[in-house]
Amino acid sequence: MAPVQIAKVADVPEGTGKTFQIGAHPIAIFNVAGAFYALADTCSHAEASLGEGELDTDEMCVECPLHGSLFDLETGKPRTLPAYDPVATYKVWTDGDALFVDYSD
Ligand code: FES
Repeated sequence: MAPVQIAKVADVPEGTGKTFQIGAHPIAIFNVAGAFYALADTCSHAEASLGEGELDTDEMCVECPLHGSLFDLETGKPRTLPAYDPVATYKVWTDGDALFVDYSD
C-alpha cells in the first residue's frame, strides 16, 4: 500500500459520497460528519457505482443504486442481499486540505 492523494477535502462535503479514479480503479469516498471512508467503487454484485448510492450516515452504510444492497462503510461487507461478497476498503485520511488513501494495485 502507498499513500495516494485522491481528492481535496472540499470535494466530498459532509453527508455525501463521490467516486474518484486512481488510474483505472474507481474508489468511492464518503464523508460522515467529517470522518472519511473509502470503498472500492464497483459493487460486488454487478456493475454499479457505490459512490452514486444513497449514503445513510446514521447506519454507516451506502445503498447500491442498482439492486439496493447495503454496504458497511467500515468493513465493505454487504448487510443485505443480493450482494454477498465484500468490496475492498482503504485507509483514508486528511492532510491539510488533501484527502489521501492507502492504495496499490
Ligand atoms: S449491483 Fe449492487 S446490489 Fe446489484
